[in-house]
Amino acid sequence: MLFNTSLWFHIIGISLMAGVTVADFVLTRKFWAFYVKSPQEGILVRKISNKLPVLIIAGILLILLSGVGMMIATHGVFDTFLWFRIKMGLVLLVILNAVIFGRRQNTQLNKLLLKEIPEEQLLKRIQKNLNTFHITQLTLFAFIYLLSTFKFN
Ligand code: HEM
Repeated sequence: MLFNTSLWFHIIGISLMAGVTVADFVLTRKFWAFYVKSPQEGILVRKISNKLPVLIIAGILLILLSGVGMMIATHGVFDTFLWFRIKMGLVLLVILNAVIFGRRQNTQLNKLLLKEIPEEQLLKRIQKNLNTFHITQLTLFAFIYLLSTFKFN
C-alpha cells in the first residue's frame, strides 16, 4: 500500500517537474524571440515564466518524499543496486543545476530587465546559459527515466 501510494505520488511529481520544465524552456525561447521585436511583450512572457519555479519545487519535493516513501516500504533494498545509486547521483545534479546555475541566470536576467538599456553582451551570455541549463535538465531527466525503467545492473 505504502509503495503503490508513493509510486503514484512519484509519477505525479515527475509529471509536474518535467512538464513545467518543458513549459519553462518553451517560454524562455519565446521570451527571447519577443524581446528582440518588442521588449514590453518580452517582459510580459517573462512575468509568466517567473511563476514557474514554485511548481518545479513542488514537483521535486513530491518526488523526493515519495521516493523516500518507496525506500521505507522496501526497507532500502534499491540502495543496493548500482543503477539506483547512479540515479541518485543524477537527481543530485538536477537539483544542483537548478539551485546554483539556473536560479543565478534567472535572477541576473530579471535584474538586467529592470534597467533602461540592458547590456547586449550580458543578455546574450544569459540567453546561452539558460539554453544550456534547460538542455542539461532535460537530458538528465531522460537518463533518470532510462535508469528507472531499464534498471541496468
Ligand atoms: C528527478 C528525480 C526522479 C525521477 C525523474 C524519477 C523517476 C522515476 C521513474 C520514471 C520511476 C519508474 C516508475 C515505474 O516503475 O512506473 C521511478 C521509480 C522509483 N524511484 Fe524515482 N525518480 C526520481 C527521484 C527519486 C528519488 C530521489 C528516489 C529516492 C529517494 C527515488 C526512488 C524510486 C524508487 C524506489 C522507485 C521504484 C523502482 C521500482 O519499482 O523498481 N526516485 N522513479
